[in-house]
Amino acid sequence: MTNKYKYFVANWKMFGDIKSVNSINKVIKISRMKNFNKSKIIYCPPYTLLDKFVRKLKKTNIQVGAQNCHQSSFSGPFTGFINSKMIKNLGCNYVIIGHSESRNVGETDLLINKKIKSSIENNLKIIFCIGESLNEKKRKKTKIILSNQLKKGLKNIKNIKNTIIAYEPIWSIGTGVVPKNKELLNNILFIKNFLRKNFKNSKPKVLYGGSVSPKNVKNLVKINQIDGFLVGGASQNSNKFIDIIKKTFN
Ligand code: 13P
Repeated sequence: MTNKYKYFVANWKMFGDIKSVNSINKVIKISRMKNFNKSKIIYCPPYTLLDKFVRKLKKTNIQVGAQNCHQSSFSGPFTGFINSKMIKNLGCNYVIIGHSESRNVGETDLLINKKIKSSIENNLKIIFCIGESLNEKKRKKTKIILSNQLKKGLKNIKNIKNTIIAYEPIWSIGTGVVPKNKELLNNILFIKNFLRKNFKNSKPKVLYGGSVSPKNVKNLVKINQIDGFLVGGASQNSNKFIDIIKKTFN
């Protein structure tokens, strides 16, 4: 790990009900322990639970984020959407943008770029997801895909100090398959170098996401360029999520 903190972002996707909010009590407890004071834990539950999470986590150092936002900073006739201003107003500090599951239902690079801009305007920290498909990987297109996503997503943005990149190869999400360490290191370095070259003075933070589990985290942590993890399935089970955090530090 190269930055001061290690990030553990729990992306609950479209899971979780009112009852599941209490399941994070154990995580709150360990977040207060000294051994883990270098961890930054961020919960991204579905919209329906954001308010509950914000209230519950108020007196902790755990942060809350949304899983997406509308691209407009202004209120308007956009049925079914909420924007970054509303998310900030609720007490959240983070937003995930560009997740492959959102891209999959029509989110374009242009839209992603607008969402990132409006989130910066509204003082949210952004977890910007990029990653290649299996087909693209097989055709050795990974680096082209990553640099295109970065170029288009961050177009005309000057300051990326509040933007964290999450590298999530699509073929790793929910499959139990993670990239080999050498391949992962290579892609993470590629992303960091791209950001250093295009955004002077930035200290890029890059997380890895895709089937992170208590079983593979120790091996992933060997890649010291990884600044943390974006965890899907395993983050909904507090024991597993805690295990991931513990194994990162021990
Ligand atoms: P899984 O950890 O379930 O593979 O999901 C990864 C992910 O998409 C996190 O955003």
